[in-house]
This record gives sequence, C-alpha cells and structure tokens, in this order.
Amino acid sequence: MSADATNGPPPGARPDWTIDQAWDRYTDAEHQVWITLYERQTALLPGRAADPFLKGLDALDLHRAGIPDFARINEELKRLTGWTVVAVPGLVPDDVFFDHLANRRFPAGQFIRKPEELDYLQEPDVFHDVFGHVPMLTDPVFADYMQAYGEGGRRALGMGHLANLARLYWYTVEFGLLESAEGLRIYGAGIVSSRAESIFALDDPSPNRLGFDLERVMRTPYRIDDFQQVYFVIPSLRSLLDVTVSTDFAPLYQRLETARDIPIASTEPTDRVFTHGTQAYALAGGRTQAA
Ligand SMILES: [Fe+2]
Repeated sequence: MSADATNGPPPGARPDWTIDQAWDRYTDAEHQVWITLYERQTALLPGRAADPFLKGLDALDLHRAGIPDFARINEELKRLTGWTVVAVPGLVPDDVFFDHLANRRFPAGQFIRKPEELDYLQEPDVFHDVFGHVPMLTDPVFADYMQAYGEGGRRALGMGHLANLARLYWYTVEFGLLESAEGLRIYGAGIVSSRAESIFALDDPSPNRLGFDLERVMRTPYRIDDFQQVYFVIPSLRSLLDVTVSTDFAPLYQRLETARDIPIASTEPTDRVFTHGTQAYALAGGRTQAA
C-alpha cells in the first residue's frame, strides 16, 4: 500500500515527497468530478456518517464548488487541531507517510479520478483523501489518534511489524464503524468516500460487524480489492485513542509473532458480535461477480 522508496521522490517532488497542489491548474472537468462525488456522498451520509465526520465537513466548508484549495482548508484545520493537508503525487513510502502523520501533516493525493472511475480507483485521489480523511482531523481526539498512529508506525517499521500495525489503520482510519445512541455510524475514509460501501458497510447482511479489540484487529487480514468482510466497531473515539497510547506495542508484537491470523470471515468466542454476517456477497464472488 505504499510507494517504492528506493528511487526517492518522483521528479518535481520535494525530499519529503510533497508537491504544490497547483490549485489554479485544475480544469473545469476535474472540479466537476469533485462536485458530482461531493453531492452524491453528502446526500447519502446524514444518518450514516458519525457526528464528528459531519461536523468536520461543515467546519471545513468543503461544499464550495469544486476541488478545495488546501491553503484555504489549512487555515481552519490548523486553528482547530494543528493539522495541515500537504499535497503528494500519489502513495508515498511508509517512513515518509509516518513522519508526516507524526508531525500532524496529512499527505493527500493532488490528482482527481477520471469521470469514468467515479466508483473505483486504485490509488487514493484528492476526493478520497480530502473528503474521506480530512473532516475527521478536525476532531481533537481523532487528531491525536492519527498523530499517535504516525509515531507508532515509525516504531513498528523499526521492529519489523508494520503488517500488523497496518491492520489497525485499515480497520479504523479507513474502514472503521462507531457505535452511537442512534445505531452504528461510519467514520472510516474508505467508506465515507464510497457510495456503494457507505450502504454496504451498514445495511448489507453479508459482513461481520464486531466490537473493536486491538489485538484481535491486528490478527485479522483485510481485503484491498473489494468490500470488507468484517468491520470493527469502536465505542468512542476516546477509547480508540486511549488503547492506542496506553498499549505497550513491543510485547504485543512479540505475541503476534506466534499467534495465528484469524480467518477474515470468522467470529471468535471472545468477539462482541453486532452482526453475524452471512458472507453472501463474498461467497458469490464479490466485485468479480458483480462486474
Ligand atoms: Fe485513505
């Protein structure tokens, strides 16, 4: 999920892989892609997205026409939580990514998907990164969690356990669900930026929806090519931050070296089960079948 670091940053990028957003150079057609995606997601998300996400979306005023200018977002984001968004040409190497997060900088793809790729894309673009990720960075607790993740990522790299830690990112930052008094809500960027998964993650009977447990999550593989077969539900953002900063990851990584991976679709006796999924979607072949 990261760029190859061996050749250094691509031409035109700075040593930390950032580039200018060059907002003036987006075409009308590119702005229109943002508007189309923005309008259909915001029509879908009330009653589905977690409150901190919806509040962040409002605070950043992302509904102005077209792809947002990062300089304008950063004025408000910096004031709220001290985070900034920096433009990058695409995926960046793990150590570069962690260094940005540890310093409260979120690297966002500068480019936007093509009109014919509205529903699926290989690399995160500006819509996934800014619409999907940045609203949550206006929440002070989530903002601290993301910084803690960046610091933990640097340590995990040093200890050779990045694959385990990446699962934490995947099942929270990208595909996390949050429990609320009104029911389950989505906060993961991979869900809120996808029309189909915004529906699937909450409404479809196929996936398991299980209570979040740090070690359990780090033993669970994930799908990068299709809807998730399992989603993990946190009781609050505070609980996620607390368990991340209070856990000593070194002995945890040691235990994980001998612990088996938990099959992606299984439930364990210790799981808190919100939904025992049918797995019907995956069993029918998933996206391959639907295509
Ligand atoms: Fe993402």
